[in-house]
This record gives sequence, C-alpha cells and structure tokens, in this order.
Amino acid sequence: MHAQVPPGPREWPFVGSLLAFNRDPLQFVDRLYRAYGEVATITMMGLRFFFFAHPRAVKYILVDNARNFTNREAYPELRMLIGDGLLTIDGAEHRQQRRIVQPAFHRTRIERYAGTMLEYTRRMLESWEPGAEVDVADAMSRLTMAIAGATLFGVDLVEETAAIGRAFLQAAEYTDLPVIALGHLPINLPFTPYGKFVRAKQQLDEVVTRIITGRRHGNQEGDDVLSMLLAARDENGVPLTDRQVRDHVLTFLAAGHATTANALTWTFYLLAQHPRVMTKLTDELTTVLGRRDPSVEDLPRLPYLEAVVKESMRLYPPAWAQARRAVADFDLEGYHFPAGSYVIVSQWVTHRRRDLWQNPEQFLPERFEPAAESEIPPLAYFPFGAGPRTCIGMPFAMMESRLVLAMILQRFRPMLVPGFRVVPRALIILQPANGLRVKLEQAERPVQVTSGSSLG
Ligand code: HEM
Repeated sequence: MHAQVPPGPREWPFVGSLLAFNRDPLQFVDRLYRAYGEVATITMMGLRFFFFAHPRAVKYILVDNARNFTNREAYPELRMLIGDGLLTIDGAEHRQQRRIVQPAFHRTRIERYAGTMLEYTRRMLESWEPGAEVDVADAMSRLTMAIAGATLFGVDLVEETAAIGRAFLQAAEYTDLPVIALGHLPINLPFTPYGKFVRAKQQLDEVVTRIITGRRHGNQEGDDVLSMLLAARDENGVPLTDRQVRDHVLTFLAAGHATTANALTWTFYLLAQHPRVMTKLTDELTTVLGRRDPSVEDLPRLPYLEAVVKESMRLYPPAWAQARRAVADFDLEGYHFPAGSYVIVSQWVTHRRRDLWQNPEQFLPERFEPAAESEIPPLAYFPFGAGPRTCIGMPFAMMESRLVLAMILQRFRPMLVPGFRVVPRALIILQPANGLRVKLEQAERPVQVTSGSSLG
C-alpha cells in the first residue's frame, strides 16, 4: 500500500483544478489519464476527487462495493434541478423506489411502447423534405421528449418540447458553471444565470405538476411509470408525497430524453463521416425490412444496427462520467482512501484506452458484432453505468434508438452541412456545443412515410 495520496497535477490554491476542468472537461480527464495512469488526485474548491481509469475500479465502485459509494452527496448541482428522484437518492430508499417503478421498464412492457416510438418518428418525418437542412440534435431532443412524455406519463408534450428542452439546457448550463464564477451568485434577476436557472426550474416544475394533476383528476388506471408512482404505498400504506412524485417525474424526463437524443445525434455525426458503415447499415436495413417500417420483432435480425448504436456510444458516451462519495474508508489501486472521498469514473476515458481497444479512435461497429463482442473486457464498456444503479431505461433507450435510426435511414441520408464545425460539449450529458446541422439527402430507394396506427 502506498503511503501517500495518488499523484495529480499542480494546482491553484483552493480552486485547485476547477478552471482547467471547466475549460474543457474531456481534454482534462484525457490528460489526467495520460499523465498519471490508473488513479489521479485533483482538488476543486477545497474538495479532493480521485479519478479512476481502469475497468477494475469501475467494477469496484459501481458494482462490488456500490453500497459504500453514494450518489446523493456526489451530485449537489443535479439535485438542485431534479430534487430527490431515482438518480439522487440512496440506500434503502433507492432500493424501495426502484422496485416500485421497475415493472414499467420490463421488456414486455417496453415492447408495447414501440408503436408510439414509431408513430412520433413518422410524424416528424412527415415534415422532413429531401434537400432540407435540419438541426438533427434539436430534432432528436424534441422527438425523444415527446416519446418519453407519451410512453412514461401518457401525455402529449409535442407543443412544449422546444420550451422544455430549452429549460433543461439552461438549468444544465447553470449547474455546470464554476462555483466561483460570478454568474453563480444566487442573484435572482431575469438576466443573471441564477435568475435564468430559477425560471427554468419553475417552468419544468409547472410542466411536471400539470402532468401529475392531469392524471390525478383523470384516469388513474394504467401501467406506465406515472401510475406506478401514484399507486405506490410503503409497508405502512403511505403513498409517495407530491414532491417525491414530482422529483421522480422530472428525473425521468431529464434522464430519459437528452441521453437518447444525443446517442442518436452522435450516431448521425459518425455515419455522415463513414460512408462504408452507412452503406453496410442501409444494406442490412433493406435486406431485412425491405420497404416496410421496423418492428420490435425485426430488431434481433438487425445486428449491425445494434453494433452501430453501441460503437457510437463507445466513442461519444452521452453519460460520460459518474461521481460518487465514499461512506467508509476503502482501499483501491494500492492506495488507502478515507471516508468522504469523492471518486470519479469516466466512460470517455475508459472507452478510449489503447490497452483495451484496438485503434480506439476509429469508428468500427464490427467490434460489437455478436462474434467479436465477447472479446471486450468486462466493464471496459459501460455506457449505461453498472451495478445496482445501471440505467433503468437501458432497454427503452436501446429499442428507441434502433427504431428511430432505422426509420430515418430508410428515407434519408443526413449529411454534414459543409463548414459546420462540431465541438463536443461535456455538460451532464455529452452533446455537440452548437447542435448538428445536416442536409437531408434522399435515400437511394426511399420508403414512403405512411400514416401508421394511432398512438398508444
Ligand atoms: C442512450 C441513452 C441513455 C444512456 C447513455 C443512459 C445512461 C445512464 C447511466 C450511465 C446511468 C447511471 C448513472 C450513475 O451511475 O450515476 C443512468 C441511470 C439512469 N437512467 Fe439512463 N441512460 C439512457 C437512457 C435512459 C432512459 C431512456 C431513461 C428513462 C426512460 C433513463 C433513466 C435513468 C434513470 C431513472 C437512472 C437512475 C437509475 C438509478 O440510480 O437507479 N435513462 N443512465
């Protein structure tokens, strides 16, 4: 066991590495790994963080010793926005509430959402014209939000998606500001970052309250997430408080749309630059689907589609890092760490390690084809996290991203608008800083958009 703390960069007094981290979080964590290897120490605002890069540490923290690492204290900024939803509660409370909503995410239940996913995609495609330019990041954000609203809460959010998306982004930008930045001061005026955050949060709370009130006054039946939250009783027969339900709904709305939207956006970005992959994928779609829309039953027969989505999340993981706070002392990578330590693991770094991936910078979906996938070392790839807090929406997201991608590519080839520069921006979710402007080229043998079954 080493006597000292793990090595780390030279830092400013008190603020530590905060400014360097905030300037470019991805480059910062890359440099940490290259300079210090498996574990590095950084401080920010007097707090000490340990950054781990090996899948072994991912397993230790997220899986084997998950109970020793809390979420609640690791995401104070996120809690300002989403309160105490599934992502930000711990221990027995987390286990109990995860059990309550889990049935809404069972495979058979999720499969019933497929019709809604296809119908909203169809509606979006009706307004897309060959040759038009669209911001595909914005389009995917609206689409996934509308799908989340309809499937999880039984509401049509289509008219509000732009406003809700903006409110989420504004709130995420505020919680991402360096704590020492002047803009962070809690001065509630229309033009201050804090004022904008307060209004964004109010707007989101209003939407969520409306969703809940609508259900309380209307049909209480149903087996979506909202009905499960409203029907839940603890062992003493006590229901969740209004606030608990509101925080859960907000968490699902936040966690359930920007992640999948960005997974899709990065996939279009990569496909536009890799014609070989695009052709192989569209050939698979034509062979298996011909000229009809995809269905859940088709998905197992579209292995390259799945491989493309997975490889895209390796290179551009929408959730690019997770933090935790240790409850008790622990030993890892030859060091002893005291209770209260903050730890960070990062998909961005682990998914791109040279010792774990051949040509890690290259977009090669073949790595995830069934025969090759078993060669990937355990937890070298963890886009949905791992252990007891693995993303509850993973089957939902994997189904949604494949169905949406297939339907769009049956009709269009989104190509990058010449001169449009894509810069990754690592807020809570990894996203292109200025959206993704594409030109919609028509597919060789485009499939017509036909009005499908009714929503539901
Ligand atoms: C490509 C899409 C998605 C990605 C990459 C993703 C990623 C993740 C990751 C990495 C975590 C673990 C966070 C941690 O350990 O601190 C997580 C948790 C979570 N995700 Fe997702 N997610 C996606 C889609 C979804 C969807 C569609 C939903 C809901 C419909 C959802 C709801 C949640 C919730 C509620 C949690 C908290 C689970 C818990 O702590 O028990 N996610 N997600």
